[in-house]
Order: sequence, then structure tokens, then C-alpha cells
Amino acid sequence: MVFEKFHIDQGDSRELIKTLPDSSVDLILTDPPYNLGGYSTGNIELRWRKDINNDLAEWDTVNFEPKDWVKEFRRILKPTGNLFAFTSYNLIGKWHEAFDPVFDTFQFMVWHKTNPTPKIFKAGFLNSCELIICCWDKGHTWNFISQKEMHNFIESPICMGSERVKNPVHPTQKPVKVLKKIIEISSNPGDIVLDPFMGVGSTGVAALQMNRKFIGFELERPYFEAAKKRLANESNQMQLFSLISENSGI
Ligand SMILES: C[S@@+](CC[C@H](N)C(=O)[O-])C[C@H]1O[C@@H](n2cnc3c(N)ncnc32)[C@H](O)[C@@H]1O
Repeated sequence: MVFEKFHIDQGDSRELIKTLPDSSVDLILTDPPYNLGGYSTGNIELRWRKDINNDLAEWDTVNFEPKDWVKEFRRILKPTGNLFAFTSYNLIGKWHEAFDPVFDTFQFMVWHKTNPTPKIFKAGFLNSCELIICCWDKGHTWNFISQKEMHNFIESPICMGSERVKNPVHPTQKPVKVLKKIIEISSNPGDIVLDPFMGVGSTGVAALQMNRKFIGFELERPYFEAAKKRLANESNQMQLFSLISENSGI
């Protein structure tokens, strides 16, 4: 597959992933559906402010089975590759059951959100942590930074302000800061990063900012279009920056 910086497709990644050659991806960094449907109580209506969005996205109601992805993820990942996938407490056991037997190592990371949705009724924990499963084999690409910076714990606010895509709003847009940290540790410049559930393309933006190439798939047209726009902007900005650097001798 030949492309310069990124290649994205709109459609079902169960089919699109089959178009990728064997051992062609250095890092799968993805954020598939969490199937949290059965646990949601819906939006919380409040008199003094706009409703707290607890709503379910349509795509999250479709059953996601980690075991259905083992064969294709293994096939396309290079032997030196890494897999990172965001998930939730209800699916972590299924990820472990399916992926622990087929990789040398199965670990997890925690992303701590410093500004989670408040708990209005004060009867339980805030949902301030998200889980990320990580898998690899011996000899995988690994850029160890320092003991202090290699905790399996990342702290960052959820997406806010100008980073948040406004049209359409994606309920689970991931912050580029978190994705860049994972990409930095687990791949090298020029490597190919794949996100088969790319939403509005946050993994792609992070990959381009880290000088990696990106392949992304997304089912829903509005999210796909937003990702396309973001990635084109990012790639234009990079081109502009390298032109300015060349001309000013930076
Ligand atoms: C948790 S969201 C990813 C959000 C993304 N990390 C971002 O920052 O925008 C999961 C995405 O997967 C998409 N999706 C679900 N099933 C899919 C499938 N079979 N093929 C492609 N995309 C799918 C959904 O439409 C949704 O946008």
C-alpha cells in the first residue's frame, strides 16, 4: 500500500482491514466501541444547567467482541509491532481472554481524566479513569524514556476548547496528548499507525504530529468527513512548517 502521509476509508473496518497486506502495520492504536449501553441511565436533566450527557451513541450498541479481531490484528501487525486499545471495565476480561494467549505480553495502562463529568447525586465514584490494553512480542519497538515517565498511567484532561471537533461532536474524542505519548513510546518516525475505529481522526492527528504515517477507517460518514478535514489541515500545516524551516535554515 503506497501513500505519502495518510490513507483513510469510510466503511466497516471488519471488511476494510482485509485490504491491508500481512505484516504491514507498526502500531495499532485504536478505540473500539465499549458496549456500555446496558449500564447507562441516560441523560441527566438539571434545572440550573444544560443536561449532563450520559447518552449512548448508536455505534456503541453494536456488540463488540475482542476475539473477532485477533486473527486480522495478528496478520497485519509486524513482528516488532505493538497493539494499544482503549476499552472499559466490562470488556477488559474479554480482551485478556482473546489476546493474552496470542502475544508474549499483555499489559494495561490507565488514562486518568483530570476533569471528568461531575457526579451530581454523589453516590459512587466519578468515572475518571479509562483503561487501555497493550500487547506485544519480544523484540517489539519500545522507546523507554525514563523510569519516572514510564508509569502505565497517563494524566490529562478530556478534549476541550479548540481541540474539540464541533461539527459533529464526537462523544468519545480522545485527547491528542494521550495518543502522542503512546505513539512516542511504541513506534518510530516513518512507521505506520492504524486506527480501524478512528472516529474524528484523533489518532491520525497525533500520528502526523509525531512524523508517523496513518491508516484510518470509520463507519459513520459525518465522523469520517471531520477526520478527513482534520488530517488534511494537519498535513498542510506540517508542509508549511517544513517550507518555512527550509527557507529560514532552522
Ligand atoms: C470510541 S469511538 C472512537 C473515537 C476516536 N478515538 C476519536 O478520538 O474520535 C469508536 C468509533 O468506531 C466507529 N465504528 C464502530 N464500529 C465500526 C466498524 N465496524 N467499522 C468502522 N468504524 C466503526 C464508530 O462510529 C465510532 O466513531
